[in-house]
Amino acid sequence: ELRGVVALDGPSGTGKSTVARRLASAVHARYLDTGAMYRAVTLAVLRAGVDPEDATRVAEVAAAARLAVGTDPQAPTVRLDGEDVAAEIRGPEATRAVSAVSAVPAVRELLVAEQRRIIAEMLDAGHGVVVEGRDIGTVVAPDAPLKVFLTASAETRAHRRSRQDAEDGRVATMEATMADVQRRDRLDSTRAVSPLRPADDAVELDTTELDITGVLDALLAMVDRRG
Ligand code: C5P
Repeated sequence: ELRGVVALDGPSGTGKSTVARRLASAVHARYLDTGAMYRAVTLAVLRAGVDPEDATRVAEVAAAARLAVGTDPQAPTVRLDGEDVAAEIRGPEATRAVSAVSAVPAVRELLVAEQRRIIAEMLDAGHGVVVEGRDIGTVVAPDAPLKVFLTASAETRAHRRSRQDAEDGRVATMEATMADVQRRDRLDSTRAVSPLRPADDAVELDTTELDITGVLDALLAMVDRRG
């Protein structure tokens, strides 16, 4: 039983989403996927025909978009203006544009505020919450008692991403997936506002040699000690 916040950060392909959901289920906590929120805003930008690099117009679209995220780890949901967009936000178009959109300071301000509101609401209701993203330990929930930063080799991450894509019915070559993973990490790690990096007090967990159960066991042991 988890009462506080677990901050789970790291690049894509580390198994973050899968273990975050399993961890939340195992400790009877809620689950917040902040990447889904950036992806949903990105979808709104693309649908509005706005250039993801046009920060001013991206900020306008973000302010007007109505996002709703469900926090049940067994069935997380994402709605944009009332429509279920869970599948579409993982498609290639949104994936390609999301780093540009999430680098816009006004977008981050808006979403970080919303994330803090959701977290506070769940804590108030007596729930623990596992929050996954890139800046949870550094910006969104700097007071979280447990912060974990997941890593894995670039090859491993590209492999995991392609397996996930195949399971979800998306087709992509290994080269394209590898290139996308590396490009997105570079953009996420070098942006001016809230770059992807471990918090000073985060525990780093290299998942290269671990399967999902191995990662989950390591996280459960950490929750037992400090969660
Ligand atoms: O985790 P996921 O791959 O769905 O995240 C998609 C993108 O959203 C990331 O590549 C990053 O650009 C952005 N993101 C972010 N901050 C977060 C979560 C995601 O900038 N807390």
